[in-house]
Amino acid sequence: MAKLSDMTDRLEGQEMFQILSRAKELEKEGKTIFHFELGDPDFNTPKNIINSCYDALNKGFTHYAPSSGLLELKVAAADSTERGRRGFRPDLNQLLVTPGANVQIDFAVSCTANPGDEIIVPDPGFASYFSIIKARRVEAIRVPVYEKNKFRLNPKDVEKAITDKTKMIIINSPSNPLGAVMTPEEIKEIYDIAEKKDLWLLSDEMYTRLIYDNVQFSSPSIYDKCKERTIIVNGFSKSHAMTGWRIGIMTAPKEFIEKAGLLMETSLSCTSPFIQKAAIEALSGSNLYCDEMIKQYKGRRDLIVDGLNSLPAISCIKPQGAFYVFPNIKETGMNSREFAKLMLEEGGVSLSPGTAFGKYGEGYVRLSYANSVQNIENGIERMREVLNKYLDKN
Ligand SMILES: Cc1ncc(COP(=O)(O)O)c(C=O)c1O
Repeated sequence: MAKLSDMTDRLEGQEMFQILSRAKELEKEGKTIFHFELGDPDFNTPKNIINSCYDALNKGFTHYAPSSGLLELKVAAADSTERGRRGFRPDLNQLLVTPGANVQIDFAVSCTANPGDEIIVPDPGFASYFSIIKARRVEAIRVPVYEKNKFRLNPKDVEKAITDKTKMIIINSPSNPLGAVMTPEEIKEIYDIAEKKDLWLLSDEMYTRLIYDNVQFSSPSIYDKCKERTIIVNGFSKSHAMTGWRIGIMTAPKEFIEKAGLLMETSLSCTSPFIQKAAIEALSGSNLYCDEMIKQYKGRRDLIVDGLNSLPAISCIKPQGAFYVFPNIKETGMNSREFAKLMLEEGGVSLSPGTAFGKYGEGYVRLSYANSVQNIENGIERMREVLNKYLDKN
């Protein structure tokens, strides 16, 4: 075969998808598997959203659409940002509609950093950050996020990591894989650092609707209205149980959106218009179903945290956002990968090693509780059996 590019050697992908493949193989062999590896809601997409998609298909929204997104969707997104907790109205040329949010991270890195530049990334952090940054020949400067700080990124650690080559800081609150929500004061400190050093600030806000215990969400965009440096990565996958639809909207300075829009036009052409019509319904229609999902997630979070803390050699702090828990497994004597492998092969419990989210995830695993109460209860009991057997032997 002819030779592939060097870039392909730097691609890492997302390890959770590889774990899912192994879990599916075991299922094919007839084993029952409890899935906690992927952040994919078990809820169906709300009916009103599905119906608006059918309607759009029947009305002929099946052709190319404007590359940066349907005007009507951009207006709905601007309305929603203004109505919501960010409280400002972006101009329509500050918005770009994309197929899912993941590609927005690639656009953000590609349009702001040159090969050899540095981007500050929380570790543990969402796996795509590391893979995209590496693929683009940019250096990821990992800032450890500590359990003793309730897994919140410390602005002082971010400041210390800045060099002359730094181009961007990435923050993600609520966080995947940690579920941590940064305080408004911490967000302000991070914004001030980015402003002082004139850096880009990527705020990944995928989980902003999934916050519990009346904790306050804060976005750095309130300081510059996305006109200077803040790039908001956002989408519908998690908030509206729409992972398979592939739709998101990014907000950023208009000069950035113009270039990212050209990238979009070049490689993806446009986002499916019937999916965009469904997204308009998601932003403007009833929120009752989503509110109910959030209520259910909160109950599941409490259940899984209590369940994990009842297991031998495991401890788990209670996160206040997203739908992930990140228990500490150090006392088992296993490393993250050994633990994840044992749980899958012996217990049929599929979860992600903490190291799938960076080297500082060693000693932890991630479980997604976007799963039913019954599956959470059964999964915890399976883990208990496997752990008791393992700890007896070792
Ligand atoms: C923090 C974070 N950002 C972005 C994404 C990408 O979302 P999408 O599925 O819409 O591409 C995810 C998905 O898991 C995520 O957890």
